[in-house]
Parts: sequence; C-alpha cells; structure tokens
Amino acid sequence: MITGFLSFSALAAEAPGKIEARNETFSASHPDQYQSWKATAEQSERVDALAADPRLVILWAGYPFAKDYNKPRGHAFAMTDIRETLRTGAPKTAEDGPLPMACWSCKSPDVARVIAEQGEANYFHGKWARGGPEIVNDLGCADCHNTASADFAAGKPMLTLSRPYADRAMQTIGKSFDKAGRFEQQSMVCGQCHVEYYFEGKDKAVKFPWDKGTTVDDMEAYYDNIAFSDWTNPLSKTPLLKAQHPEYETWSAGMHGKNNVTCIDCHMPKVQNAEGKIYTEHKIGNPLDNFEHTCKNCHTQDKASLEAVVAKHKHDINEIKLKVEDQLVHAHFEAKAAWDAGATEAEMKPILTHIRHAQWRWDFAIASHGIHMHAPDVALRILGTALDQAAQARTQLIRLLATKGVTHEIALPDISTKEKAQLAMGMDMPKLNAEKQEFLKTVVPQWDEQAKKAGLLSH
Ligand code: HEC
Ligand code: HEC
Ligand code: HEC
Ligand code: HEC
Repeated sequence: MITGFLSFSALAAEAPGKIEARNETFSASHPDQYQSWKATAEQSERVDALAADPRLVILWAGYPFAKDYNKPRGHAFAMTDIRETLRTGAPKTAEDGPLPMACWSCKSPDVARVIAEQGEANYFHGKWARGGPEIVNDLGCADCHNTASADFAAGKPMLTLSRPYADRAMQTIGKSFDKAGRFEQQSMVCGQCHVEYYFEGKDKAVKFPWDKGTTVDDMEAYYDNIAFSDWTNPLSKTPLLKAQHPEYETWSAGMHGKNNVTCIDCHMPKVQNAEGKIYTEHKIGNPLDNFEHTCKNCHTQDKASLEAVVAKHKHDINEIKLKVEDQLVHAHFEAKAAWDAGATEAEMKPILTHIRHAQWRWDFAIASHGIHMHAPDVALRILGTALDQAAQARTQLIRLLATKGVTHEIALPDISTKEKAQLAMGMDMPKLNAEKQEFLKTVVPQWDEQAKKAGLLSH
C-alpha cells in the first residue's frame, strides 16, 4: 500500500474549483475542437533519440536524459510519456525523488487548475511524485483557454496564459499578454511550454532565463552570471546546462517569427467541418501534412518544392550537429584524461568553460525541435559557434595534456550503440528498467484510482 500522496484539493482552504481540466467535459459543446484535439493521439510514433545517436549518452552522462530520451510526439501523450520515461524514476512515496513537482508543468491542464486553486508556491512545493494523484488529465483545453470563462462557454474562447511564470517571463521581454494583439497571443500560448526554462530556488519553481533576452548568447550570459548549472558531467567534471526546447525563442528569431507568422498559422490552421463551418484544427502536428491549409495560404510554391527546402535545411543542420557532437565527446574524454594526469582546477577552468559553452550551444540548437523549419540560419550560426568553442577546448586540452607527458591520442570506449554507451558510463539499465516497470504496475494505478475518487478524472 502506498501512502502519503497528499491531495491538493483537500489542502486548499477555499478551492474555487473553477478551472475544468477534464477535456472530455467539452466533447459535446465544442465537438470539432475536441475531436481534432483528441486526434493528436494518432501521432503515436515513439522515436528513441539515444538509440538513434548514442553520443548523447556521453554528452548527458550523469543527467537523467542519458537514461532515456524520446523525440516529441502528439500532445495526447504528454501524461503517458512523463510517467513512463526513466527520467522520472520510480518513486514509491510522495516524498521520493528524483525530480521536483516542476516537471509536471508543461504536461497537463491540471497544472493550470492547481495553480489557480492554490497558488504557484503550493503547486511547486515538493517532489514530482506528490503530484501523481492530482496531475492526471492529458495536455488540453485548460492549458490554452480559461475554461471557467463565459467566452469559453459561448464557443469564442480567449486564449490565456494559464502559467503565471510564463506570463511574468513574457513581461520581462516586453510582451504583456493582456496588451498583446491576437496574433502575438497565439504564439505566446505555445510559448508557455515550448521554451527554455530552468528550476529556481529551494522549491525548484519554473523560470525562463530571459532577463537579458532570448538569444542563445543572452541566456548563456544569464546562466553564467548566476553560476547556474543543471549538473556536472562525471567524465570532464564540466558544470553543464541542459537546454530544454526553446522553440518559441528560435521561431521568433527566424524568418516566419520576424514576419509574425504565428505557430497557429502553421500548426493550427482554420479548416472546415462537414457542415462547412470554419473552425481551428486542434490536431497539432506536422504542418506539411496539412499543406493546403498552411504553407499554401501564403506561398505559391508546390508542396514538393517547399518540402525539399525544409529537408535540405534539416540535412545541413544535422551534418554540423554531428560534427559538434564528435568534438564534444572527445573533449569530455580528453578532459578526463587531463584530470587523471594531474591537471589542476586552475588549469582546467578555462577549458571547462569552453566545453560548457559548446555543449549549451549545441543542445540549444538540437533541442529546438523543428529549428530546421523555424530558423535554419539561426541553427547554423549557433552550431558554428559551438564548433568554435569545442575546438578551443580541445586545442587547450591537447597542450595541457602534453605538459603532463600525455602525447598519445585519448581513445574512446565503444559507444556505437545506446546500450554500449550506457554500459561505458557504468549505468545499470536493467535495474532502472525493472524499477520503472514496478512503478507503472503498482503506483500509477493508485494515482488514477485516487484521482477518479476525487472526481478529477472523467474516465
Ligand atoms: C495548445 C493550445 C490549445 C489547446 C490545448 C486547445 N486550444 Fe482551443 N484554441 C487554441 C487556439 C490557438 C485557437 C484559435 C484562436 C484564434 O483564432 O485566435 C483556439 C480556438 C478554440 C475555439 C474557438 C473556435 C475555433 O475553432 O477557432 C474553441 C471553441 C476551442 N478552441 C475549444 C477548445 C477545446 C474544447 C479544447 C480541448 C479539447 C481546446 N480548445 C484545446 C489553442 C488551444
Ligand atoms: C502545456 C504545455 C504545452 C503547450 C501549451 C503546448 N505544447 Fe506542444 N508539446 C508539449 C509537450 C509536453 C509535447 C511532447 C509530448 C510527448 O512527446 O509526450 C509537445 C509536443 C508538440 C509537438 C510535437 C507533435 C508531434 O506529433 O510530434 C508540436 C508540433 C507542438 N507540441 C506544437 C505546439 C504548438 C504549436 C502549441 C501552441 C498552439 C503548443 N505545442 C502548445 C507541451 C505543450
Ligand atoms: C511557417 C510555419 C511554422 C511556424 C510559424 C511554426 N512552425 Fe513548428 N514546425 C513547422 C513544420 C513544417 C515542422 C515540421 C518540420 C519537418 O517536417 O521536419 C515544425 C515542427 C515543429 C516541432 C517539432 C515537432 C517534432 O515532432 O519534432 C515543434 C515542437 C514545433 N514545430 C513547434 C512550434 C511552435 C511552438 C511554434 C511557434 C513558437 C512553431 N512551431 C511555429 C512549421 C511551423
Ligand atoms: C501566414 C503566412 C505564411 C505561412 C502560413 C507560411 N509562410 Fe513561409 N514565409 C512567409 C513569409 C512572410 C516569409 C518571408 C518572406 C520574405 O520576406 O522573403 C516566408 C519565408 C519562407 C521561407 C524562406 C525562409 C528563409 O529563411 O529565407 C521558406 C522556406 C518558407 N517560408 C517555408 C514555409 C513552409 C514550408 C510553410 C508551411 C509549413 C510556410 N512557409 C508557411 C509566410 C508564410
């Protein structure tokens, strides 16, 4: 029996209970939006990014992403995927780690509900497992709309920033949601989640590192200034940054963003239902699959030629990306060799700064999903600077190693597959997998049971 999962609702002194997080509630009142939203479940393919590119295991060694990382898929899977990933571990009680409450933040409309009911501080307090019985509905209506509002009931819902930390971050870059125009709001609503963020303070609250601006350079300066790091790579001992998914930032720096072509223009076009009524397609997926209603609205080229442009950008970016990764993998192992040969903190410091900056820049570019479409020029520039930082690190490392009498090439272990790379990093994957399976079999059903009893889940 698992005990100790506190019910937020029970804790709330005066829960207004206005925000409705159960998406099914709106299936009858807004059928077109509901059905198309539900269709994001068709985008079910799970692509194992570590298997596709085992170098990632080395670059993220010591951090949960080295255990498990899949490419994004349909919104309908946000809840399943956060429960199932090895990154969230296998907590047995509400107090068990490893991750904080903040990890729910971009997964569910229950986050909007709990924050509205209890405030941000109460929401962020504690470990991820504490939210298990409370954060249960799939990413949906209340993430982007105020489901308690009269306009929502009337079928003309306003968009809303359901996350106050996103609202504050937008204000730091001069974009007040309330004052923003409709088109700006359309992208801001996606920018609640599709952004770079980190966890701040004792309770690990979500903050976007935008105080100095939203470019890769601005955020690097921000993080350096507060000496923030997400973790330390155990090979090189570099204090590293994990870029999240800065789509909003890279989109805004790209050609479409600069022209205020919004996320909605491409990912949520206006389409017609069977009766000829126009509605917003809520099946957020690949806009190229919906060419007639997206690109075609503004471009005269045919589908094949625009697809070819996007594919070419993707290919070029991928090529440089892999070059940066190879340089970084070597740099981590060479730095380890330098420590092993007796290098001092003072000698290593400038080198580790180059590794930190190289990896941050590389990660920023690749974690910005769709960057080859949204801002290919930005991606190439970021990766170019990453390559430069990695080159500086390696040049200095080779010189330093020589002063310690190490002149041979530093060999890499076999990292030709995900499994081999994880083994090389001493990770006990069978154990992690077994614990996860146990968690999914025993803890998760209890979460759902509790949520149903509390009336938070409608199925
Ligand atoms: C990821 C954000 C997002 C989610 C999730 C979302 N919507 Fe929307 N919704 C939008 C956007 C964007 C628009 C278009 C706003 C505009 O035209 O300015 C919209 C428009 C609407 C409209 C107005 C009519 C129309 O079709 O344009 C309705 C009604 C609506 N949504 C209902 C829902 C319902 C019901 C759900 C849950 C099943 C939902 N939405 C989930 C972003 C979202
Ligand atoms: C509440 C947070 C949140 C909001 C708001 C949000 N997203 Fe997402 N989005 C996610 C998460 C989480 C995933 C990954 C889900 C998974 O893989 O389990 C995702 C996945 C996606 C994908 C990948 C879909 C696929 O099939 O590969 C696209 C595209 C996307 N989002 C676009 C948007 C757009 C456009 C908006 C604004 C209209 C938006 N998102 C709003 C959290 C959010
Ligand atoms: C001009 C059209 C356009 C705009 C504007 C746009 N996107 Fe995209 N986006 C695309 C296309 C096309 C793809 C898929 C590219 C491909 O096929 O490789 C994509 C891919 C993505 C992906 C990756 C999906 C995956 O499974 O890897 C995410 C996430 C995403 N977009 C989010 C956003 C967000 C958030 C915004 C606004 C801040 C936005 N997009 C603005 C066209 C657009
Ligand atoms: C709402 C209008 C709109 C939509 C929808 C739209 N675009 Fe664009 N696109 C633009 C504008 C505006 C530009 C900039 C044109 C210029 O100034 O040269 C642009 C530029 C481009 C460029 C050249 C970019 C560069 O970096 O030079 C490509 C490629 C492109 N769009 C592809 C697409 C694809 C693919 C889609 C559909 C997924 C799409 N666009 C959807 C308006 C749109």
